[in-house]
Amino acid sequence: MYAIKSIARVAKLSSLLLATALFCTKSFAQQGRQIQDFDKGWRFNLGDVATGETSETNDSQWRSLNLPHDWSIEGKFSKDNPASPEGGALPGGIGWYRKTFTVPAGSKDKQTYIEFDGVYQKSTVWINGHLLGYRPNGYISFRYDLTPYLKYGSTNLVAVKVDNSVQPNSRWYSGSGIYRNVRLVTTAKTAIDQWGTYVTTPQVTDASATVDLKVKIKNNATGNNALSIKTSIYDAAGKVVANGGSLPSKEQLNDTSFTVASSFTVKSPKLWSVDNPYLYKIVTEVLDGKAIIDNYTTTLGIRYFNFDADKGFSLNGKPMKILGVCDHHDLGSLGAAVNVRALERQLQMLKDMGCNGIRTSHNPPAPELLDLCDKMGFIVMDEAFDCWEWKKATYDYHLFFKEWHKRDLEDQLLRDRNHPSIMIWSIGNEIPQQADTSALRIAPELAAIVHSLDKTRPITTANDRPDTSNKIVKSGAIDLIGYNYHQYDYAKFHDRYPGKKFIATETTSGLETRGYYEMPSDSIRVWPESYDKPFVREGNNVSAYDNTRPPWGSTHEMTWKVMKKYDFLSGMFIWTGFDYLGEPTPYSWPSRSSYFGIIDLAGFPKDVYYMYQSEWTDKPVLHIFPHWNWTPGKMVDIWAYYNNADEVELFLNGKSLGVKKKTGDDLHIMWRVKYEPGNLKAISRKNGKVVLTREVKTAGEPAKIQLIADRKAIKADGKDLSFITVKILDKDGNVVPDADNLVDFKVNGEAFIASVDNGDPVSHEPFKVNYRKAFHGLALAIVQANEKAGNITFTATSKGLQTSTLVLTSK
Ligand code: GAL
Repeated sequence: MYAIKSIARVAKLSSLLLATALFCTKSFAQQGRQIQDFDKGWRFNLGDVATGETSETNDSQWRSLNLPHDWSIEGKFSKDNPASPEGGALPGGIGWYRKTFTVPAGSKDKQTYIEFDGVYQKSTVWINGHLLGYRPNGYISFRYDLTPYLKYGSTNLVAVKVDNSVQPNSRWYSGSGIYRNVRLVTTAKTAIDQWGTYVTTPQVTDASATVDLKVKIKNNATGNNALSIKTSIYDAAGKVVANGGSLPSKEQLNDTSFTVASSFTVKSPKLWSVDNPYLYKIVTEVLDGKAIIDNYTTTLGIRYFNFDADKGFSLNGKPMKILGVCDHHDLGSLGAAVNVRALERQLQMLKDMGCNGIRTSHNPPAPELLDLCDKMGFIVMDEAFDCWEWKKATYDYHLFFKEWHKRDLEDQLLRDRNHPSIMIWSIGNEIPQQADTSALRIAPELAAIVHSLDKTRPITTANDRPDTSNKIVKSGAIDLIGYNYHQYDYAKFHDRYPGKKFIATETTSGLETRGYYEMPSDSIRVWPESYDKPFVREGNNVSAYDNTRPPWGSTHEMTWKVMKKYDFLSGMFIWTGFDYLGEPTPYSWPSRSSYFGIIDLAGFPKDVYYMYQSEWTDKPVLHIFPHWNWTPGKMVDIWAYYNNADEVELFLNGKSLGVKKKTGDDLHIMWRVKYEPGNLKAISRKNGKVVLTREVKTAGEPAKIQLIADRKAIKADGKDLSFITVKILDKDGNVVPDADNLVDFKVNGEAFIASVDNGDPVSHEPFKVNYRKAFHGLALAIVQANEKAGNITFTATSKGLQTSTLVLTSK
């Protein structure tokens, strides 16, 4: 109702607002919202401190560091760490963080908040010895109001205790500490609330889009102001495409919190899609009389989508499949500490593969991931929980669910609901209570919480028991029936659930070690035999032909073949895009990271990456493997993934081994060849014309190091990264496929080594050092910029190999 009233007032207001906008631009900086990066200059103590929150405790001997910070990733691998190999085999414990800062005397009449994007886990925060609060959930974002406890014009102390000592509390690597960003936010007494806007686009056509905006005001100056709200919508070029204003009612001005709604029309909207993720920006200003007292930006993507029981998913009216992956939050050797460039690199590699979807398994992600998905065009399934009241790990969230689920789920929704990339809410992964009548109570309660804050996206759960006994499904609470695995049952979906909508919330769980191959390649291994049987095998490797799966999963080809067959299968999220720390199925110690990734922990694609690329993109693909270093006489299986061609011909040392083509639903072709050293060459052809040529040569002894930076120029912002691939080559420039040379790294200039890796799930070398052994010929060094611009010289040396140097710049 109020929305209509306020639209009527828009016209009257707009001339006034235009004048005030011009009048107030100067005062805006002082009077508007100030957002301060609060990551720098913290003190850290690993271990508990009796009165760590008080100023009497002397922290001068504590370590100085900048956030985001994950102390577990700095530790040593051990099977005795309580996280166990399932949790990454790294240490947990208790840690304290403290920071002193001054607040200007002039801030007395303002509100000051501290915002945390995520602290793993069980954080307690104090300001000047005053307890602000406790949050057990390690993935949730929260803020505290510091205003009443600050010493204005002098020094303040914020202290954070993080308790990740009681383990296992996770089925994967969690990391420990303040591993996401922290901000200090200062606003006027009256300002837009935290996550205080909500934008929806209820009507979208080619001609126009309706943009509805709700703005929630926190009013700490009740009755004392003459508030108005002005909103402008900007297109990507910075042009205003719609604007208007609204006035709160007299009654509202007396409330400490109220919401004002308005509606806008954007003509000829440019729609957000995975190929063209067009973003608008909504800038909302709060005025008190003529003064602008707050300024708040909301990202807007205009799109519509639909899940149809028969036709599957469509975006902006166009049918398509969600081709997604699941990922955990760790960034490999960087640990859980969030880094925008590291996230962006992961998404770029996935995009290049043709992936268009991300499932944030099994928790709310860093907000920066969602910003990147908005910008880069990924469809996101934003997940809340891995368990409800029943546990999966002894000390996991089931201990907190009863008390905290409402607050946590609400906060996730409030934080995330403006992201155009998000198109599915998941209220749980493989919830053990699927089998219990308690799900009939909990699922509807969670769905009601979601619906109270957002009705524009369907709700799902990721079910490992997608059968008619499933109580979550029975409760009627979910809009999309989520299948984890069970691809052999997809075809029967409508017999089981007539009229229902399908999503493959999790698929595959194929297992591979990058660069490792075992013959024969055309028989499927089921490892372990059953989920509760230990599996032991010399070397802890898994062949990188796509032919090993756990009993609940499938090979990559098995699921994709079914998925592409039926339109009603709206999409899939493959377990997983990247390898992650923890859950080293099929093995346990000494393995400490996963084998599920399409891309390994260091970010090197496994062969199956190219299967997806050949299926999911139009780019011409021809990928042949394995390497060509075997014992003479051995029968070797050579696979090729290809597209945009009718056939592939393979040559060994110039002699044709025959032409092969995919038939039926084949996704690869194979030759079985008696090995002789030399040169293997594949040529793909279409209508007789060569499309692509690929060669693999027998490599000689390691002779030199090749360094390839993903970016040679980085930003001198203290955060930007260059990912340097280190290749061990023979004298002719071929990668040596079994090279495991130890390489030392040195950086001179304005950068440092953030971490190193090689993608080996069994390596116990630390990540935060300046050396690494190669693994199947490759290693990775991640170089992080200082805040000063300059040249960066990166040198790699290894005994018996020619040294290599790379020059980067940071600006
Ligand atoms: C699923 C589970 C994931 C991961 C995966 C490994 O059942 O949802 O979190 O454990 O199995 O295959």
